Amino acid sequence: MVHKTSEYQAFSHQILTWYKENPRDLPWRETLDPYKIWLSEIILQQTRVAQGLPYYYTFVENFPTVKDLALATEEEVLRLWQGLGYYSRARNLHACAKSIWFDMGGEFPKTYDELLKLKGVGSYTASAIASFAYGEVKAVVDGNVFRVLARYFGIETDIAGSKAKKEFEHLANQIIPKDQPADFNQAMMDFGARKCTPKNPGCETCPLSNSCFAYLYNMVSELPLKTNKVKIRERHFHYYVIKCGEKWVWKKRTSGDIWEGLFDFPQIEFSEGKEYVQMEIPSSSEKETLHLPKKYRHILSHQRLNAIFSEVEIKEENREELENWCENEGFVLVAEEKIEYLAKPKLIVNFLNDQGI
Ligand code: ADE
Repeated sequence: MVHKTSEYQAFSHQILTWYKENPRDLPWRETLDPYKIWLSEIILQQTRVAQGLPYYYTFVENFPTVKDLALATEEEVLRLWQGLGYYSRARNLHACAKSIWFDMGGEFPKTYDELLKLKGVGSYTASAIASFAYGEVKAVVDGNVFRVLARYFGIETDIAGSKAKKEFEHLANQIIPKDQPADFNQAMMDFGARKCTPKNPGCETCPLSNSCFAYLYNMVSELPLKTNKVKIRERHFHYYVIKCGEKWVWKKRTSGDIWEGLFDFPQIEFSEGKEYVQMEIPSSSEKETLHLPKKYRHILSHQRLNAIFSEVEIKEENREELENWCENEGFVLVAEEKIEYLAKPKLIVNFLNDQGI
């Protein structure tokens, strides 16, 4: 499909007009500080604005500059990130801050190409920072932008396919006005999030509908085209909540799986229908309580987790044996009053809340 420059201009003009009439007050729009813009963009990756806002405030308050973030411990960062999910984002954020502070003399990268070299910064985030902080003419392309462009211009490329990103980036970079790149990018994000939504878009009151391909051809619910490629993995965890007096046994999760660096409990993973092996815990007797075992289900992007928790009490006289076992297995004993300071996955926080912790 061939589109003309005048068509692009008409589109960007309408999008910008809509944005001016429907502004959203967002704190990262009131700053040109690339550090704060970067923070907001990493927080908002795979997170809705309403959910991300309190995290943005917390991070800016605790780490007002890249130096503050660089000098924090990974635990502090993960602790503040708790509940937001996709924890590699937090680890990359921290690693980047350290690299900017220690290797780049504290100077934030100033161009799209330089920003792209940062860990966890892809073309979307680099475009956002480059346009918002420095006025560079680079178009952002995320799910919102895919949707708006696919519908308006009638693009039938499968957005799950490998070529889609390049194609849409090319188009968006032709459309973006050179004198207002930041406003255009913000406008596209907002238009996609608030007007041209995946379900029930506001076509009836949309100022672009009379020139929107999908609207005119009754294809709004068909576009963008996306084949379902992600396979969802069901996983089953049996957690052992092992206590000895005031101390609880915790496990820091290692690399190569979800929740790297966060704390949960010793665990057996099992498959449905396969033989189940109990964990061997020294000198233990399983404790019966009213609320355990309780089942928990937790949804991640590509995984569905099913967890049960068993409570195990170890007698004081067997503490030393427990300590040795923990050391061998890589577990740590943590006093109950310190538990709130551990960075934990949401599933574990939910469990603890039910325990009144
Ligand atoms: N989502 C990602 N970045 C955003 C931004 N800067 N404003 C609103 N929503 C966003």
